[in-house]
Amino acid sequence: MPDSMTQLTQELIVEQKGSVALLTLNRPEALNALSHPLMDQMGEALKNFEANSAIRVVVIAGSERVFAAGADISEMQGKTSAEMRADPHLSRWDMVSNFPKPTIAAISGYALGGGLELALACDLRVASETAVFAQPEISIGVIPGAGGTVRLARLLGRALALEMVLTGRRISAHEALSLGMVNRVVPVELFLDEAIKWAHQISAMPPLAAAAAKKSVLSALNPDYPSYPAALKLERELFYSLFDTEDQKEGMQAFTQKRKPEFKGK
Ligand code: HXC
Repeated sequence: MPDSMTQLTQELIVEQKGSVALLTLNRPEALNALSHPLMDQMGEALKNFEANSAIRVVVIAGSERVFAAGADISEMQGKTSAEMRADPHLSRWDMVSNFPKPTIAAISGYALGGGLELALACDLRVASETAVFAQPEISIGVIPGAGGTVRLARLLGRALALEMVLTGRRISAHEALSLGMVNRVVPVELFLDEAIKWAHQISAMPPLAAAAAKKSVLSALNPDYPSYPAALKLERELFYSLFDTEDQKEGMQAFTQKRKPEFKGK
């Protein structure tokens, strides 16, 4: 995709801003409910970004009014459990959490249900002061199904996670900040600029080191990972492996030569 090119789709706007990709949820009439077509487009975009070395960071944003009010209830309401199991669309959320490059959610207004799960699947979260977070699924007869119970339990601990998923209680942006659910809160008019600015800052880092850093942190949080020493060992191995990269040589040489490094992603 050429620089700054905008591809307008029905439900997802895909833009490239230098080395940063911006995905904007675009279903205002349904408060950005995450429909199958929207999540298919997101999956397709992520697949392309993964293969495209020019893209180093992905930002997922909604509008000022709403990040996303959840998965699309009208698509799910008549389904049986067998139909839901056979439906591949939930794997689109996994594509976000498994994406190897850094991801940032830019959240303003409602981030509810699958919308909050989408934000939690990203690595970093920038929220506007108007952001509202909740898992209200219980009030419509279900529970979060795209990682919400698990990620909130890890992020907030048992009591708060249970409070959220049992009552659907809404969390404000400032409460979310104090709980560590979001990285930063900014005035509403700045939430997108802040996320993009941050993405550019990260995209200037050597991408192989960024991928290694992400892999190591996610492994540390993965309960399947054999043990604490094994996670430390993986970190050490990733650290060693970066010494075979041109970017490590460039980064350390630039430091000693007191100049700005030029990273190539090699
Ligand atoms: C489909 C939705 C929707 C959703 C809103 N809309 N949320 N459509 N799926 N999740 C639609 C409404 O039907 C309505 O369409 C339009 O968007 C505007 O919504 P209103 O309700 O009229 O707006 P408002 O009164 O401002 O209330 C905003 C709201 C409310 C509080 C966010 O819309 C709401 O409670 N939405 C549902 C939140 C929710 O339960 N999310 C969890 C979904 S389950 P019309 O055509 O009437 O104008 C889920 C499971 C995830 O996410 C599992 C794994 C992926």
